Amino acid sequence: MTYSRILGTGSFLPARTMTNADLESLVDTTATWILERTGIEKRHLVSDGETCCDLAEAAARNALDAAGLAPTDLDLIIVATTTPDQFFPSTACLLQQRLGVRGCAAFDLQAVCTGFVYALGVADQFIRTGSAQRALVVGAETLSRITDWTDRGTCVLFGDGAGAVVLEAATEPGIISTHLHADGAYKDLLQVPGGLGNGHPELQFMQMKGNEVFRVAVTTLGRIVDETLEANGLSKSDIDWLIPHQANIRIIQATARKLDLPMERVVVTVADHGNTSAASIPLAFDRAVRDGRIRRGELLLMEAFGGGFTWGSVLVRY
Ligand code: ACO
Repeated sequence: MTYSRILGTGSFLPARTMTNADLESLVDTTATWILERTGIEKRHLVSDGETCCDLAEAAARNALDAAGLAPTDLDLIIVATTTPDQFFPSTACLLQQRLGVRGCAAFDLQAVCTGFVYALGVADQFIRTGSAQRALVVGAETLSRITDWTDRGTCVLFGDGAGAVVLEAATEPGIISTHLHADGAYKDLLQVPGGLGNGHPELQFMQMKGNEVFRVAVTTLGRIVDETLEANGLSKSDIDWLIPHQANIRIIQATARKLDLPMERVVVTVADHGNTSAASIPLAFDRAVRDGRIRRGELLLMEAFGGGFTWGSVLVRY
C-alpha cells in the first residue's frame, strides 16, 4: 500500500496588521465585542499590490525548505483558494512558474474555508494511486479583497495569509483518512453573490448570515468528528491534537468539548489571524510544528467548515 506522509510545513502572513481597536474607527463595533464573540484580537492584511500568489509562494518556499526538497522535486501543486490573483491562469500555475517548475500538474481548488482539507484529500488520492510522488498543497487567501469593510457582521472576522505542506509517498501513513462533504442547499447563508454576468460591484463582497452559519457549523463539525473516529475505530482519547479551522473560538471550543480534549491539545491561532479561510489550518499546523508542540508520531485531527456549505476532516499520523 502507498500512503502520503507530511514531509514539511510552512506559512506566511502579510506584515500589515489591523487590531480590533483599529476596526472601531471603521464600523460600529467595539474591541471587546469582537474579542468576546469571536476570540479574535488582530488580523494580518495584504498591502496594495500584494497578492494571494505572493503569500502562497512564501509559504510554499518555507514548506519546501522544511521538507528538504527543491521545487523541481514536485510532481503536483494544488492551491486551495477562494481569492485567486486572476480568473486564470490558476494561482497554482502562477506559483509553479515562480518556483521554476515546469510540466507537473498544477491546479486551484475552491472549497472556501474547507479548501485546505479538500486539497489534502485530493493530493492524498493522487499519491495513493501512484499518480504523484511529491505534492505541494497550499492554502492561500486574500479575503480582505472580498470583504465589505462597511459591514460589521463580516469585516471583523477575516484576515489574509497562507500555509503549505509538502507530501511524499510512503509505505505507512501519513494521512490515514480524509472525509469530504458539501451541501449546496445552504448556498445563501455564506456567499459572494457576484460572478460572471452578475458583476455589480456591491455583489463582489462576502455576505453571511453569521448566526445561522454558527449553529450549522457547530453541529456539523460535531458529526465530522464522530465520522472520523468511527471510520478508523478510534476513541476520543486517541487524538493527540485538534487542528481546527480558525473561524471563531466558540466554534473551536465546542468541537474540543465534543472530543473531551482540553484546550491545551487544540492549536488555536484565531486570536492572531482571524479567519483566513483555506489558509487557517496550515497556518495553525505550521505554528505548532515550529514551536515544538506537535511532534512526529502524534495523531492529528484537522477539521473545517465553510461556504457551500463544505466541510471535512483529515486524520494524520504526523
Ligand atoms: N460589533 C458589534 N455588534 C455586532 C457586530 C460587531 N462587529 N456584528 C454583529 N453585531 C450585532 C448584531 O447586529 C446583533 O445585533 P441585534 O441583536 O441588535 O440584531 C448582535 O450583534 C448579535 O448578532 P449575532 O449575529 O446573533 O451574534 P453572534 O453571537 O452569532 O456572533 C458572529 C456573530 C461572530 C458572526 C458568529 O455568528 C460567527 O462566528 N458565525 C460563524 C462564522 C463562520 O464560522 N463562518 C464559517 C466559515 S467562513 C467561510 O467559509 C468564508
